[in-house]
Amino acid sequence: MKTRSQRTVIGTIGAGPFAQAFAKRALKAGHKVKLSNSRGPKSLRDIVHQLGPGATAATSEEAAACEIVLLAVPWDNVPETLANLPKWKNQILIDVINPFHGKAGDFTPANVGNLSTSQVVAALAPGARVVKALNNILASNLADDPVVNGARQVAFISADDDGAKKRVEILLEEFGYSVVDLGNLRDGGLIQQAGGPLAGRDFLELGEYHQ
Ligand SMILES: NC(=O)c1ccc[n+]([C@@H]2O[C@H](COP(=O)([O-])OP(=O)(O)OC[C@H]3O[C@@H](n4cnc5c(N)ncnc54)[C@H](OP(=O)(O)O)[C@@H]3O)[C@@H](O)[C@H]2O)c1
Repeated sequence: MKTRSQRTVIGTIGAGPFAQAFAKRALKAGHKVKLSNSRGPKSLRDIVHQLGPGATAATSEEAAACEIVLLAVPWDNVPETLANLPKWKNQILIDVINPFHGKAGDFTPANVGNLSTSQVVAALAPGARVVKALNNILASNLADDPVVNGARQVAFISADDDGAKKRVEILLEEFGYSVVDLGNLRDGGLIQQAGGPLAGRDFLELGEYHQ
């Protein structure tokens, strides 16, 4: 496991508002980010320029080869996006996806049965270590500093793989969040994603109890 002082290269599959806000936080914490979308690296020139040093434009394959990968594409595009990527080799895949049909801003709920989106993602990405994280936070809030008047914003995580969950917890603490573990992919995922009680709500940790 990496220590906090080491830089991580994080890939993003999708480069919309959520991935850009995530990249901003990662860069601020001293990491590097390879962003990718469906149209190729050239279309990302302005975005990586705006994000600044440490951000580069990549193909989806290059982004997916990173140790930690953010999946931030619309729900309808998930099967095709994952089917077009090389086999996963134990990379951590952070899922932030809400089950909506259509483009961002179109909130038509998709029927995922009794599953969290992360369980579906995990089934479509064998070999990836899927962690649901940050799903309750709006991209516009994610772009802001997570420390507000000395209080840390809360980031929720869920996973079936404890090692992957710990790694993402460390990463999000580096971003500045107070991290709360919601358990496994199913239960924690359903609580975070759209339709769950935490969706779209931001929380601040005003005080922490340490044993
Ligand atoms: N925005 C929020 O506040 C928020 C909050 C919580 C969770 N989320 C979730 O985060 C995800 C992304 O949200 P967003 O607002 O950033 O969405 P968005 O504006 O729709 O951006 C989607 C991105 O995915 C890329 N993409 C689509 N299909 C692709 C493919 N096959 N391969 C590679 N990239 C592909 C798009 O690239 P092109 O432009 O090249 O097509 C675009 O960069 C969604 O699932 C959403 O539910 C969003």
